[in-house]
Amino acid sequence: MVFTHIPVLLTECLQGLQLKPDGIYLDGTFGRGGHSRAILQKLGPHGRLYALDRDAAAIEAAQELADADPRFHISRANFAELSTQAQQWGIAGKVDGILLDIGISSPQIDDPERGFSFEHDGPLDMRMDQRTALSAQDMVNTYPEDKLAYIFKTYGEERFAKRAARAITLARAKAPLTRTKELAALLAAAIPGAPGHKHKATRCFQALRIAVNGELDALPAALNGALQVLAPGGRLCVISFHSLEDRIVKNFFQENSQLPAFTRTLPLTEDELQARYGDKLTLKLIGKPLKAGEAELARNIRARSATLRIAERVGVAAEAAARRGF
Ligand SMILES: C[S@@+](CC[C@H](N)C(=O)[O-])C[C@H]1O[C@@H](n2cnc3c(N)ncnc32)[C@H](O)[C@@H]1O
Repeated sequence: MVFTHIPVLLTECLQGLQLKPDGIYLDGTFGRGGHSRAILQKLGPHGRLYALDRDAAAIEAAQELADADPRFHISRANFAELSTQAQQWGIAGKVDGILLDIGISSPQIDDPERGFSFEHDGPLDMRMDQRTALSAQDMVNTYPEDKLAYIFKTYGEERFAKRAARAITLARAKAPLTRTKELAALLAAAIPGAPGHKHKATRCFQALRIAVNGELDALPAALNGALQVLAPGGRLCVISFHSLEDRIVKNFFQENSQLPAFTRTLPLTEDELQARYGDKLTLKLIGKPLKAGEAELARNIRARSATLRIAERVGVAAEAAARRGF
């Protein structure tokens, strides 16, 4: 069975990256290459695109593209290692644009064998990188009840996290939990309230997925890595699919595009502040956060929770300060 993925906010990403035909670009989340292919179409013969993904199935699809197009290079890695990868490719400091389309791809959700979905029955896996040690099955069957409750509360923002964790520990005392549908039914019964438009297991499944894949740890590392490898004027486009990720991106963009709070009380002119602390300003925000419009949502409902934030690497502040003698 072939599983496909429709790239989200594609036009907005291509515009946000401000593609130059001879530029060097990095797609940190290849997936099935929807964004990568569109970027390659805009590049000339001397343009280059480097990509990462940690999923074996994504890498297989990317390898076909790499075999067919010499401008494209792929590596299987966590995007937390973006900076190391860029150094190995010899492109650190030279990258004109980076795209991170974080979260899971449709093939990952739709293939029951990957264990991400409560709608299709499959093994409780949820690992994006199948080489990592802990699956969702390991977590639900071995983690202490309070640790499970913490995961559901923190990563799923589930109000009934304790009840969900309790139901799991009671069930696993009889027999280990091994299937997605089994866990979904258990959670639906444990979480109070009538079934709404969202399955009652949605939040706990999201939480487990985030925990299994260490998603919130990888993101800050990737954003810091992006700052290190972007060339001055290079663009960073980040698409996130839930509020926890978006908050990380938003805070990172703000922290790197505003003078530190303590400088507001210093008796210095705007120019002096810029000269002394300007090297803290490594990003310039580009526009407002973008959401999918009605036309896109009509084609692809999975775009409904996507938020795209765009920023530009500013590389001149420190040099300007040095020239002014500070
Ligand atoms: C939303 S999909 C990207 C879809 C892609 N833009 C396309 O158009 O086909 C996210 C992809 O990022 C990968 N991914 C998520 N977190 C990752 C991480 N920390 N490191 C590397 N790849 C990651 C997933 O395996 C998945 O293939």
